[in-house]
Amino acid sequence: MSSTSAAVMVSAGGFPLEPIERASVDELRALQLQRLRWSLDHAYRNVAHYRAKFDAAGVRPEDLNSLDDLARFPFTTKADLRETYPFGMFAVPREKAVRIHASSGTTGKPTVVGYTARDIDAWANLMARSIRAAGARPGDIAHVSYGYGLFTGGLGAHYGAERLGLTVVPFGGGQTERQVQLIVDFRPAIILVTPSYMLAIADEIERQGLDPRATSLRIGVFGAEPWTNEMRAEIEKRLAIDAVDLYGLSEVMGPGVACECLETKDGPTIWEDHFYPEIVDPHTGVVLPEGEFGELVFTSLSKEALPIVRYRTRDLTRLLPGSARTMRRMQKITGRSDDMMIVRGVNVFPSQIEELILQRPNLAPHYVCELTREGPMDALTVRVELKSGEHHDGADAVGAAAALEHAIKTYIGVTVTVRVEPPGAIERSVGKAKRVIDKRGR
Ligand code: DLL
Repeated sequence: MSSTSAAVMVSAGGFPLEPIERASVDELRALQLQRLRWSLDHAYRNVAHYRAKFDAAGVRPEDLNSLDDLARFPFTTKADLRETYPFGMFAVPREKAVRIHASSGTTGKPTVVGYTARDIDAWANLMARSIRAAGARPGDIAHVSYGYGLFTGGLGAHYGAERLGLTVVPFGGGQTERQVQLIVDFRPAIILVTPSYMLAIADEIERQGLDPRATSLRIGVFGAEPWTNEMRAEIEKRLAIDAVDLYGLSEVMGPGVACECLETKDGPTIWEDHFYPEIVDPHTGVVLPEGEFGELVFTSLSKEALPIVRYRTRDLTRLLPGSARTMRRMQKITGRSDDMMIVRGVNVFPSQIEELILQRPNLAPHYVCELTREGPMDALTVRVELKSGEHHDGADAVGAAAALEHAIKTYIGVTVTVRVEPPGAIERSVGKAKRVIDKRGR
């Protein structure tokens, strides 16, 4: 490592990093191998479901001699958590779990995750590390608009912000008018919220006759849903803040598995001392070489209550070398395999549509993709709003629809119908935005 990059890594904006954030790649790999051995052994010994799966695959924790050996171990999916509902994947007696979170999922039973006191402590530290990487400093006020409750967003952000020494306003989602009032009155420097709900808050700031660029906010820590770099640019311009990407999922911990560093904003840095990432081919499950695009898979290295082995996230990305830290980054996630639409044989992600919407000056980034069936074919209608101040009935809307249809045909290669609607017509979500509505009735 050159002396200049070492100097950069000693501090993030004058604030000291944890020693592990400055570790060399070799030190990190050694720590990962040691922790991975512990984690596989812990899962095998204490979770009957893992034991049965490892036995069926003919592998034992002691077969792990190098990090590459992890590829011999079986994957874990949401289905494993459902099968063992509610507490069957816990590796500690239930009474050792001090917290439960759950995600509702689209069908059937929720997936349940548990944490020991040490897990909660580690999570608070990793979220504190994330918020600090995003540029927050002790003494800042943090407004948390991620939902509190079974969703990991609110409490995860909350504990991390407290751990870092911030003053936390635990607002949660909803009551947009009051959110704005407290942002104006309490003057937070940091907001933690889904990017789609940030836009709804920005709309409300404007509705109240205020200038979104004139708030006290300096940094937004955005995640829980895919959002493009075009959306980042839009939010940064509209609110005059830095928009930083925070990634996580409940099965692996919650928010704070990875977070962007303010100084580079080039994809979330994975906190590799606690999570081991792999990229696999989403169809075959084969591990892909470093840098290739595929499905992100995580193995926890330190979790006690719910060790997770090779969890298939369904998130599509690739691993990138470290930049602001030695730990690897992931490319900003722009889609989940679940959200992929197949329209007349062409694969389309909502994020590709989002990019094109944001290139049109008179369209607002509020949109949904509706899939319907027309005979044997799937058809896609993109509903998107005009920016306020534009005339919905006039030529503006017709022209905007035609221009977006043309751009989608040209850049994505698929014919869609675009319906341009008046400002406010698309339902706002207070948490994760639902971008795909499937009306095919299968
Ligand atoms: O969404 C945890 C979280 C809360 C992350 C707050 C960041 C901020 P789940 O509800 O289990 O957990 O959903 C996890 O959300 O697999 C991704 O598909 C998506 N996701 C989360 N963060 C990002 C992000 C929380 N920064 C699922 N970019 C994940 C893109 C994200 N997608």
